[in-house]
Amino acid sequence: MIVAPSLLASNFLHLEAEARMLNESEADWFHLDVMDGRFVNNISFGLPIIQQLRKTTQKLFDVHLMIEEPEKYAEAFARAGADILTVHYEACRHLHRNIQQIRDLGMIPGVAINPHTPVQLLQDILPDIGMVLVMSVNPGFGGQSFIPHTYQKVKTLRQRIDQFGLDVKIEIDGGVDLSNARQLSEAGAHVLVAGSAVFHAPDPRQVISSLKHCDA
Ligand code: DX5
Ligand code: ZN
Repeated sequence: MIVAPSLLASNFLHLEAEARMLNESEADWFHLDVMDGRFVNNISFGLPIIQQLRKTTQKLFDVHLMIEEPEKYAEAFARAGADILTVHYEACRHLHRNIQQIRDLGMIPGVAINPHTPVQLLQDILPDIGMVLVMSVNPGFGGQSFIPHTYQKVKTLRQRIDQFGLDVKIEIDGGVDLSNARQLSEAGAHVLVAGSAVFHAPDPRQVISSLKHCDA
């Protein structure tokens, strides 16, 4: 399992120490949630924070854009050090073009879907992307409860990916913790994002390790 802790739940006053903790852990990626107060009802952090964090780690930067008009900012996120750039299906009028742009900038394109968006809508775009981010809460805030319908979405998506031999990862984001990690793995998830479950735990590195080996 690939584990991508979401720094949204970290202590922003001690970002360097939080990054060090992740570096010393079994975390694979840094999951970075960017919100614009328009696509979602919250504003998180943006380019300057990501630029600074880039200096603290070699780990892959998995940037989740919860913003309108992501095409305006793709180049800036590439320069800030994003490796995977995920845009929301619901925020893109010309998704195919946005995905080509992300690839042309040298990043791996991901597409995120809200809980109400059927995975079937991604059918024609799947061969062009590297990842699907399945939201298992409504985007905008950490610390919400996992929506169980997610398991079925993951199964359907994984079947399609395997059937066509596609190289697409399935990432689950929202309310992920040790109580649902194993079932998500069995449903076909490749990547688990966890914010509160990691950063609000007494021993974050232990939680990361348990998520990583949830399928063992
Ligand atoms: C929510 C973000 C998530 C969030 C997850 O909109 O996309 O990445 O940080 O937080 P938890 O794990 O606390 O639900
Ligand atoms: Zn996220």
